[in-house]
Amino acid sequence: MIYKSPFNYIGNKHRMIACLQDIFPQDINTFVDMFCGGGDVLINTNAKTKIANDVNYHVIDVLQAFQNLTIDEILDHIDGRITNWALSKTNAEAFYQFRRHYNENPNPLDLYVLVCHSFNYQFRFNSQHEYNNPFGKNRSYFSTRMRENLISFVELIRNVMFTKNDFRLMDLAALHPGDFVYADPPYTITCGSYNDGKRGFSGWTLNEDESLLAILDNLNDRGIRFALSNVTEHKGTRHPFISEWAQEKGYTIHLPNINYNNCNYQSRNRLYRTVEVVITNY
Ligand SMILES: C[S@@+](CC[C@H](N)C(=O)[O-])C[C@H]1O[C@@H](n2cnc3c(N)ncnc32)[C@H](O)[C@@H]1O
Repeated sequence: MIYKSPFNYIGNKHRMIACLQDIFPQDINTFVDMFCGGGDVLINTNAKTKIANDVNYHVIDVLQAFQNLTIDEILDHIDGRITNWALSKTNAEAFYQFRRHYNENPNPLDLYVLVCHSFNYQFRFNSQHEYNNPFGKNRSYFSTRMRENLISFVELIRNVMFTKNDFRLMDLAALHPGDFVYADPPYTITCGSYNDGKRGFSGWTLNEDESLLAILDNLNDRGIRFALSNVTEHKGTRHPFISEWAQEKGYTIHLPNINYNNCNYQSRNRLYRTVEVVITNY
């Protein structure tokens, strides 16, 4: 059974959960999801204890709001907003009125409702931290499928400890062998709207990659298992050091077998292919 997060989060790993489950260890004491995003990996990984982090505190605020309410309270709130503001996949005017209302009175559950009706379901803010994603005309709405996903999701995150730190500030000192850290950062050589540095959060560059690899090396030195998702090659551009780092340290490079709609990593033509990897130290 593979669960789906109710976020349709950009960069989510839903399509490769089965591959990740094959790669991840079976016996996890504490699972740390350093870049949890919409939580697709988080809800599909078994562990005794779970810690999930993302620097995008808007997303974490929504996740924590879900945690603190019953599913009936959450659904009542969402349904009430949809009815009272006449939100739908065609009513652009209602969307923009509700967006204005949210920016004047921000609260996490309203943000979730807004994201459900937004272009590509993105959490996009301007530098003043005002939500500025446009309407998801004819596509985005709170579908029956999202409702079902939300109902299971809320149960699955009940006991997760959420934090909203830059990954460099996470306190990993208490981890032991038996624990497992998953890192799914923005990919430096592809583009995601969360790593362009224009959304109120600083961008993701090779410097961040270097800091992350140093943290993973430190975990390795302490006997703690990790897995890192990344892209080593994208449309003719190679990541300058991730594969080399993995080879030098003797880590394992997995090539998950997945099909993309737009970018097929198996393509022989280097100009079109994307090579997505999962690097583990076990
Ligand atoms: C590829 S997405 C993770 C997707 C997630 N695994 C999922 O399945 O939904 C990368 C995430 O890294 C977060 N991020 C970017 N810079 C960060 C930083 N410096 N510290 C922590 N998180 C960061 C972004 O907000 C984004 O949610």
